Amino acid sequence: MASLTIRKLDDALKKRLRLRAAQNGRSMEDEARTILRSAAGAGVNAEPAGKRRARRDAPAQPTPDADAPAADQTRRVLLIIGGGIAAYKSLDLIRRLKERGTAVRCVLTAAAQEFITSLAAGALAGTRAFTDLFDTASELDVGHIRLAREADLIVVAPATADLMAKMAGGHADDLASAVLLATDRPVLIAPAMNPRMWEHAATRRNLAQLVADGVAVVGPNAGEMAEAGEAGTGRMAEPLEIVAAVEPYLGALGGERTLAGKRVLVTSGPTHEPIDPVRYIANRSSGKQGHAIAAAAAAAGAEVTLVCGPVNLPDPIGAKTIKVETAAEMLTAVSKALPADVAVFAAAVADWRVDKPVASKLKKQDGVTPRLGLVENPDILATVAHRTSGRPRLVIGFAAETDHLIEHAREKLARKGCDWILANDVSAESGVMGGDRNTVHLVTERGVESWPPQGKDEVARALVARIAAALAGAPR
Ligand code: CTP
Repeated sequence: MASLTIRKLDDALKKRLRLRAAQNGRSMEDEARTILRSAAGAGVNAEPAGKRRARRDAPAQPTPDADAPAADQTRRVLLIIGGGIAAYKSLDLIRRLKERGTAVRCVLTAAAQEFITSLAAGALAGTRAFTDLFDTASELDVGHIRLAREADLIVVAPATADLMAKMAGGHADDLASAVLLATDRPVLIAPAMNPRMWEHAATRRNLAQLVADGVAVVGPNAGEMAEAGEAGTGRMAEPLEIVAAVEPYLGALGGERTLAGKRVLVTSGPTHEPIDPVRYIANRSSGKQGHAIAAAAAAAGAEVTLVCGPVNLPDPIGAKTIKVETAAEMLTAVSKALPADVAVFAAAVADWRVDKPVASKLKKQDGVTPRLGLVENPDILATVAHRTSGRPRLVIGFAAETDHLIEHAREKLARKGCDWILANDVSAESGVMGGDRNTVHLVTERGVESWPPQGKDEVARALVARIAAALAGAPR
């Protein structure tokens, strides 16, 4: 069968199709496919047997449709390319994503087309690039709403100061901004601009707004700019850094949105407790496990708030990330983020803080060694687990232990009042602190379940599956 082109249908039919598609929340093309599928199914018995046989015996025809969404398991990224010199790196980004099996569709702003062509982007992506909101052919075939929806993730690279301003202000006067306003998918931006523009109060405001709206950010990096003699922070993250930010999220997508409609709060990373303006007390937590849990919960459709201490990791895509330094700040941010259905406390919160941090740097004085007075930090997990009102239905803690793992975990379960504890061995030999793998034991009132050694992202997915089952009524 020749491929179906909706714009060639007569106007009355198009109008009816558009209405039906809108009623069913489908694109016009999808609606047409659905109608054809059901008509073919209903009519198959009415078809003369000879014809049916002839059709069955005919060799299968490929049905090329360059603009069709990718097959089910393929992850789909919509790459919006803004107008900056870094746009040339986006061409490499397309290749990097494609070589990892990701389907890429591109939208280029008018300014982007001053730097690269839609032909180059389309050729690398293997499907035409989109440029114009008011292009009738694109609107009828694919349309900005379908572009916005037929992606697992939207990446904006480079995200120029102007594009960020439009996003923060909710503008929709070109294809890129209209897609960004119409989407319900997670968005990652890779800002790129002159350092002065990056530092400008307006850009800071827009960035803060975008982060508050749940947009994830990678970069910009410091270094030399394209303009001669200019250096500072504003270089777009390298394509592989962007891929590294994208991969945990795409990898965590399992298709099933088992936590859709649920609010999940996660803490992650260490806390830093100041001694003076340049020194602090900290621990070796990398934040990898907590961030992986936030990413897995977001990929399962949850509305995720991640409260994290200082880490060297990109913000998980799809989660709203709130960055804090100290345990006290973490408690405040956690309290503000409630209510939630589930709270997972993966942060390695410093147990103590310095009682009197000083405002100016401590200086060495002959023969005098400073003595630090310590006070205990609030226990964030216990505070939330013991709430009499507004307690999440499921409160999950970690137990980082170097010995008597299960015994300590059981004791923590009872003392902290949480529902589950994930106990893990953090002795130096285990390589858990800072490493990519983890061996955890799920300790509940019902008993202990030991999980095999696995990647932290696998632990995260397994935990999310358990959370979804528990919320759906499975025994805890
Ligand atoms: N936790 C917390 N706030 C604190 C200390 C710990 O929310 N001030 C949480 C951690 O996020 C973790 C759990 O409590 O989920 C257990 O943390 P862990 O460091 O293992 O235990 P501690 O309470 O610090 O106890 P100890 O140092 O005696 O092992």
